[in-house]
Amino acid sequence: MPGGPPATIEGMDQPPEELTNAAVTLRRRQPTDAQVTFELISESLDHLQPWMLWATPDYSLEHAKEYSQRCDAEWAEGSAFHYVIYVDQAPVGSAGLMARVGTGGLEIGYWVHPSWTGRGVATSAAAALTDAALALPGVDRVEIHHDVANKASQRVPEKLGYALVGEVPSDPDMAAPADSGRVKVWRITR
Ligand SMILES: CC(C)(COP(=O)(O)OP(=O)(O)OC[C@H]1O[C@@H](n2cnc3c(N)ncnc32)[C@H](O)[C@@H]1OP(=O)(O)O)[C@@H](O)C(=O)NCCC(=O)NCCS
Repeated sequence: MPGGPPATIEGMDQPPEELTNAAVTLRRRQPTDAQVTFELISESLDHLQPWMLWATPDYSLEHAKEYSQRCDAEWAEGSAFHYVIYVDQAPVGSAGLMARVGTGGLEIGYWVHPSWTGRGVATSAAAALTDAALALPGVDRVEIHHDVANKASQRVPEKLGYALVGEVPSDPDMAAPADSGRVKVWRITR
């Protein structure tokens, strides 16, 4: 993460704490979600490790507690809105909106437990987040960024009708093992 104060969107309200799209429900990630977060990530490590720098074999309950607390603080300050993804009450992944793409923009991030992939979960979660983001007064654009090699992630903005607006080099300090070093930037506007 770059230094300095976290970005926030001026004049932006907060999105709803619960969102739904098709069979998917998103609920605001709370500090009490640390245990479920730890279990989901522990079971998903092999699947996440190629693409997520933080998904290391030593990922612990302490990491999940710290992350869940941080999500709570970021929600309160308006710099990010993190959710746990549920299908039929089962926690299946994580998704969120992050104020790190400049004024008026929010970026969507997501991952899904490997037992639940290929069923449209990430696409439904991103659809719900897109609608919620564009409903906020201070937001006129939503972006999805992914490494060019991450073809599964690419399908999400493609299926949702995002426009490909560019390809940029990624931060070498943030490179995950499967990253190619190039990032595709997708955007949808109000
Ligand atoms: C990327 C990820 C979130 C997708 O979740 P998901 O719930 O399976 O996504 P969806 O089911 O909504 O869509 C996935 C699409 O990718 C396609 N796909 C999956 N693996 C693929 C691959 N290796 N090459 C090309 N397409 C692939 C699926 O067929 C599907 O497309 P379709 O609906 O046209 O058939 C999930 O694979 C994941 O958690 N990956 C690891 C973490 C990660 O990469 N997060 C994103 C970082 S930018």
